[in-house]
Amino acid sequence: MKIDVYFTAAEVEPAVLAEVTVVVIDVLRATTTVVEALANGARGIYPTASTEEAVKLAHSLGRDDTLLCGERKGEKVEGFDLGNSPREFTREAVAGKRLVMSTTNGTRAFVVGQHAARLLAGAFTNLSAVARSVAGDAAVVLVCAGRDDQFSLDDALCAGHLITSVVDAAGEQPELNDAARAARMLALGRTPTRQFLAETWGGQALIDIGLGADLDICADLDRHDLVAEMRDQAIILAAG
Ligand code: MLT
Repeated sequence: MKIDVYFTAAEVEPAVLAEVTVVVIDVLRATTTVVEALANGARGIYPTASTEEAVKLAHSLGRDDTLLCGERKGEKVEGFDLGNSPREFTREAVAGKRLVMSTTNGTRAFVVGQHAARLLAGAFTNLSAVARSVAGDAAVVLVCAGRDDQFSLDDALCAGHLITSVVDAAGEQPELNDAARAARMLALGRTPTRQFLAETWGGQALIDIGLGADLDICADLDRHDLVAEMRDQAIILAAG
């Protein structure tokens, strides 16, 4: 088994993803929010790179049962139904709905990975389920969404813990690239806590705009036992 990590989606050459399983990680907050939405009954999440594409797609899907979601600079996009706070994606808000979502970094990473053999959403909140799901795959690439095309400590920690869990589930030592080795070393010394996230660049930015309560959900390890997988254009609930 081989596991590679990319610390930002900008480093990834999409062609190298064609034959592999890709897990997109955006702890703060896109993949945490995707997992929360599916846990609360959303039918599927359609990631788009731009807000303009999101508006167009939501209209073509039919606005009656489609919610427009996403953020810029952490805040809900003007005119959208929901932002990108996992706390907004309650059962009352999303059950039975399609969600079209555009976020600054996370949904762009899904667009980069769209031609992968399998494309999953990974977060602390569904870490063990993802690890079990990919443990039998020959080649796995963890794509951290990062922040503004830069390294993000929260995503790197999640990648490291995911590697540890995959190794436990697979029962073999995978071949790792240097970024995967670094992520795994980071995970040896740190557990995901609210405090850890609060000290990251992204966590601090959320606290600064009054969304620090999101960090409690983002750090909640294995809050949900679910695998979120992209099929065609939408991220849906997959068999675990
Ligand atoms: C992103 O995709 O950039 C993020 O999830 C940012 C955020 O939620 O504030």
